[in-house]
Amino acid sequence: MNYETLAASLRALIKGVPHKIANLSNASALIFEALEDLNWAGFYFLEGDTLVLGPFQGKPACIEIKTGRGVCGVAVREEKTQLVRNVHEFPGHIACDSASNSELVVPIRAGGRIVGVLDLDSPSVGRFTEEDAAGCETLVRVMEEEMEETLRAGLREV
Ligand code: SME
Repeated sequence: MNYETLAASLRALIKGVPHKIANLSNASALIFEALEDLNWAGFYFLEGDTLVLGPFQGKPACIEIKTGRGVCGVAVREEKTQLVRNVHEFPGHIACDSASNSELVVPIRAGGRIVGVLDLDSPSVGRFTEEDAAGCETLVRVMEEEMEETLRAGLREV
């Protein structure tokens, strides 16, 4: 995947759009269409110490994840990207879709703190590489730059 091209497409899609849910929905759709071999792509946002399900593509997923729980909650607690080769070997992994076998979670920051995560799931063990992790961090940077104001607000506030 050429992440530079994908990042440019993402920027063009959300630039100047003041609607958080519209941008997150389009971002999840763009990523889900562009990356091969995914079964889920979407967002969770923090409300207190709980990650709450945001816009996504894929099967219905768990609604609430406590900080420190699952791959998403660990990404928030450790404040860093989690690249999980085999989710069945990750202690505390939360199985939303039994088809998921590998996962990539990138924290999203706004106003100097973590506000949520981008979560990608794949049915293939070892689907995600360091290149995917760096590429998805670039996509999240684009969102942080273009959506700074709306990302500061919780999902309930938009
Ligand atoms: N597997 C995630 C939960 C979210 S779903 O994959 C959409 C986790 O362990 O945090």
